[in-house]
Amino acid sequence: MTDTTSASADFANFVRGLPKAELHMHIEGSLEPELMFELAQRNGITLPYGSVDEIRAAYAFSNLQDFLDIYYQGAGVLITEADFKDLALAYFKRLAADGGTHAEIFFDPQTHTDRGVAFETVMKGLLAGMKEAEETLGVTSKLILCFLRHLSEESAFETLEQAKPWLSNLAGVGLDSSEVGHPPAKFARVLQAARDLGLKIVAHAGEEGPPAYVWEAIDLVKVDRIDHGNRALEDEALTARLVKDGTTLTVCPLSNLKLCGVPSLDVHPLKTMLSLGLKATVNSDDPAYFGGYLLENYLATAGAVGLTREDVVTLAKNSFTGSFLSETEKAERVAKVEAYAAAH
Ligand code: ADE
Ligand code: ZN
Repeated sequence: MTDTTSASADFANFVRGLPKAELHMHIEGSLEPELMFELAQRNGITLPYGSVDEIRAAYAFSNLQDFLDIYYQGAGVLITEADFKDLALAYFKRLAADGGTHAEIFFDPQTHTDRGVAFETVMKGLLAGMKEAEETLGVTSKLILCFLRHLSEESAFETLEQAKPWLSNLAGVGLDSSEVGHPPAKFARVLQAARDLGLKIVAHAGEEGPPAYVWEAIDLVKVDRIDHGNRALEDEALTARLVKDGTTLTVCPLSNLKLCGVPSLDVHPLKTMLSLGLKATVNSDDPAYFGGYLLENYLATAGAVGLTREDVVTLAKNSFTGSFLSETEKAERVAKVEAYAAAH
């Protein structure tokens, strides 16, 4: 009989081959130090680091803001359409190697437009990478534009205006960056304007912020899914509501560990979320900074909290049912997960 306990090689191979979607990944957070150096050189930019090892050594964070400061600095090497295409393709290759077949990726246009990089440059580069990934790797993808919540509502409205010619290329909008002090309510109007344009709405909530921010995200902003959501577990009524509504949570275990949301992976709430009936999914958030892509997030968490084969199949199915694919596509993707599980 095959050993499918979470520590075995058979289990790892099973999870690698399992069709999976990634619903929470910031493309700027997939910028590996090697590519950062290459792009810096290509664009004549001097980095404040002498080597790849020095960059990696700087990736020790005590909270979200520590990370964000370094992440925005790293994104400064992205200048041309080719840079954004190379960045996206590098991510899709890693995803395909991990058995990922679909991704809904975040990007932060304000990080680039505020440095004088045109919105169009970012879009054209990312779309070219997405197209090539579908053609050469068979990985499908969608784009979610994130508003930086440490910036103003006005700046978010300006960004939405810039996005208008690109609506057919966008699945939705989200809220990311510094959470505490910037509740979803600050962006309720711009998110409603985005919804009126036909876009889906997501928001980081309950990563560092309190349960009240998750309540706002569901009741005031009426999000289509919650990014992270860990702190929702502190509020029983909120947890019950998320279960009742079947709200998808895009959970990022290695990110939670690196940003000190959990002291160690063995006390990560993912298994608890599943047993409570929450629609949790596994994601990498900013894989170049947090030490692991999609598969590593599944395997490290499985080993730490004892996810079963059934649990990972549930997580894979949740990743497709919680996606912004059409209902027909979701059913097809879930059928593929079931067929794979039946055959292995
Ligand atoms: N931007 C990139 N990664 C993020 C995270 N984990 N939380 C908030 N904003 C982010
Ligand atoms: Zn995130």
